Amino acid sequence: MPLGRVLSTANGSQCRFATFLPTLLKLAGMLTVRAPATSANLGSGFDVFGVALERPADVIRLEKADRVTIEMTGAGSQYIPEDPDKNTVGAVADALDAPARIQIDKGVRPASGLGSSAASAAAAAVGLNELYDRGYSREELVPIAAKGEAVVSGDAHDDNVAPSIMGGFTIATEQGVTQVDADIPLVACLPDIVVSTRDARNVVPETARVDQMVETVGNAAALTTGMHRDDPELVGQGMHDTVVTPARAKLIDGYEQVREAALAAGATGVTISGAGPTVMAACAEDDRRQIASTMLDAFGERGVDARVYQTRIGGGAEVF
Ligand code: HSE
Repeated sequence: MPLGRVLSTANGSQCRFATFLPTLLKLAGMLTVRAPATSANLGSGFDVFGVALERPADVIRLEKADRVTIEMTGAGSQYIPEDPDKNTVGAVADALDAPARIQIDKGVRPASGLGSSAASAAAAAVGLNELYDRGYSREELVPIAAKGEAVVSGDAHDDNVAPSIMGGFTIATEQGVTQVDADIPLVACLPDIVVSTRDARNVVPETARVDQMVETVGNAAALTTGMHRDDPELVGQGMHDTVVTPARAKLIDGYEQVREAALAAGATGVTISGAGPTVMAACAEDDRRQIASTMLDAFGERGVDARVYQTRIGGGAEVF
């Protein structure tokens, strides 16, 4: 929650102070940004679809400086290089010509399939654009943040950075980003397994049959319509994919069992989040808690530790 909103529950003078706090901090050359985790692909939209998640999120603090320095804390931060040439946010700061002292508090574990590097890149792009008054729109910041993504994944993908910057459901193509404000309850179950995006891309089939293409188009259309209607049934139906997901499922111990358990508990659709290993389920609000505990149990029965986020589609990066 933005600091302004927290303080606005106190008395009137604090409320006015809270309103001006971000402006005062910006004048002092400082900003804080919260950028959400994301889930890319959603089954039928490989490398195109993405959603912002209400939780978890990365929080980064920025302070104008003569050169870029990076300090990391939080989930999996010990595995992320602080060298600006090897960190997603270093490339973003270069692209915006915006040197800063950057403190990143990771809420999104790396190699989770929840857009961890994209969340940091998105936060840096939105925050440095504001701090240095660069004047880019949210949509224009997407390819800038994607450059940061490329530092770790070896390729620039917009499907995670677009929702982290713009919020909601996004369709990212060569032509740009289409964004829809959607509200769908989700369960993200993250097993204690590491799958790198590079490895997950190596198993993607190079060809697909025409009948699979026809099915994918139908599912992608159903999912997009479901997002417009806030309809978990249609979204879940549209998450079905017979091309990329089955190939990647082999990298996730217990995927099939967790998927079947979630569907039996009422999930409307289940797929791999991004490159994995997080397993993502769409559902009705009333079923979410039961699905979350069922997915944890199913991983547990395979001897795989996991954690679960009961979440939903949320907004994009917030500056405060
Ligand atoms: N669409 C990408 C993949 C996600 O599934 O490999 C990482 O950006």
